[in-house]
Amino acid sequence: MIKLAPSILAADFGHLADEIKESVDAGIDYLHLDIMDGHFVPNLTFGPEMVKFVNSKTDIPLDVHLMISNAPKYIEVYAEAGADFLTVHYEAVDFPEKILKEIRKLGIKSAVSISPNTSIKTVFPILEHADWLLIMSVHPGFAGQKFIPAALNKISAARDFIESHGLECEIEVDGGIDLTTAPQVIEAGADILVAGSAFYKSANYGDFVKSIKKLAGGG
Ligand code: DX5
Ligand code: ZN
Repeated sequence: MIKLAPSILAADFGHLADEIKESVDAGIDYLHLDIMDGHFVPNLTFGPEMVKFVNSKTDIPLDVHLMISNAPKYIEVYAEAGADFLTVHYEAVDFPEKILKEIRKLGIKSAVSISPNTSIKTVFPILEHADWLLIMSVHPGFAGQKFIPAALNKISAARDFIESHGLECEIEVDGGIDLTTAPQVIEAGADILVAGSAFYKSANYGDFVKSIKKLAGGG
C-alpha cells in the first residue's frame, strides 16, 4: 500500500494546528517537515521548535527532511524535538554511513536523500543503514516546483537494487508529486510519496488521500 506524507511547508501557517488535524483526519501516513538552512539550499524555513509544535499536536509519525549543511550537529536536537524519521542529504554530509548509524542509535529511523544531480549508484553501498531512501524529484529548496522525470529511472534502479539485495529500505519520493505524476512514481517502485502543494491546494484532503491510495490499487 502506498503511503502519503504531506509537506506542511505548503500548509496555511495561519491555521497550522487546524491544518495538522485536518491532514491527519484525512488518513495520511506521515507528516513531512522540510528543514532548510539557507546554506545547503537557497531557502530558509523552520527549525526544531516547529517540529516540537507539530509533535505536540499529533501522534502521527514525523518525517523530518534535513536540507542543512551541518546535519551531524543537529540530529540529536531533531530526535528530541520529535522526529520519527530523520533524513540527511548524501551531498551535505562527509560520512553518510556514520550519520545513518548515529540516527538509528538515537532510537529513530534513518533516511538518506539524494538530489537530482546525484547518481543513484552512489548511495547503494549505504542503503543497508537506511530505513528510507528519499529520491528528490525537484532540486531541494522550494515547494511548488515541476517534477523532474529523470527521477523515474532512479526509482526503478533503486527498487531493483533493494529487491535483489533483500534490503528493508523503503523508497520515498519528494517534489512535484500530484495526481498526474504520482501514478508514474508508484509504477516505478515508490513506497512513500511526499506532496506539498498538490495536497494543501486540493479542495478536500480526504479525497486526495483516497485518490492516491486508489492509484496504487488500495482504495
Ligand atoms: C523541496 C521539499 C519538498 C517540497 C514538496 O525542497 O523537500 O518536500 O516542499 O513540495 P511540492 O509537493 O509542492 O513539490
Ligand atoms: Zn522534503
